[in-house]
Amino acid sequence: MKGRYSTVRSWRTADVPALVRHANNANIARQLRDRFPHPYTAADARRFIDGVVSARPVITFAIDVDDEAVGGIGFSPGSDVERYSAEIGYWLAEAFWGRGITTEAVRMVSAYAFDKCNVLRLFALPFADNARSTRVLEKAGYTREAILRSSSVKAGIPRDQALYALINPGWRGA
Ligand SMILES: CC(C)(COP(=O)(O)OP(=O)(O)OC[C@H]1O[C@@H](n2cnc3c(N)ncnc32)[C@H](O)[C@@H]1OP(=O)(O)O)[C@@H](O)C(=O)NCCC(=O)NCCS
Repeated sequence: MKGRYSTVRSWRTADVPALVRHANNANIARQLRDRFPHPYTAADARRFIDGVVSARPVITFAIDVDDEAVGGIGFSPGSDVERYSAEIGYWLAEAFWGRGITTEAVRMVSAYAFDKCNVLRLFALPFADNARSTRVLEKAGYTREAILRSSSVKAGIPRDQALYALINPGWRGA
């Protein structure tokens, strides 16, 4: 998916060094779930890429600027009655923040999830005080639905999460 600022594409084994370079950053890890490791090692990068390269449909993407993977974005569908609902998540290398790259990527991946995968609802759960991320979601058209008080614990500290969602107006049915 080609945008003005980046191309959103599948991960490749050759992305391991770039992934380690950009993901190994405490300012990124502290806003994400603990499964995003810190420090972020080459073994972590290989394990992650091995786990996503052959998945179909592709739901986990690299954000590529000038032929380098500088971030990640993806969505993961729920199960049972939530199977048409998917959680979207993303991160970007710190050197690239503030240029509109992630907002554009969220727009592209949301359109892909709706059009190609018939997702009905996309939602995100940023920490409520992650102003950069909540701004991205608002700019991409997501609606703030709730504040989930003390819904998570990061580094031993209870944290509120904001629930944002976007509904597919063209959902094709079950
Ligand atoms: C959140 C993140 C993906 C944003 O990426 P980005 O490409 O910089 O986002 P954009 O440039 O599209 O938009 C950022 C917006 O936040 C605003 N912003 C920047 N610094 C801010 C701050 N300190 N407080 C509030 N808003 C801020 C920007 O001005 C911009 O809004 P604007 O276009 O209205 O001016 C990136 O900061 C990141 O990877 N953070 C760590 C991981 C993370 O938080 N992931 C999301 C988990 S839910």
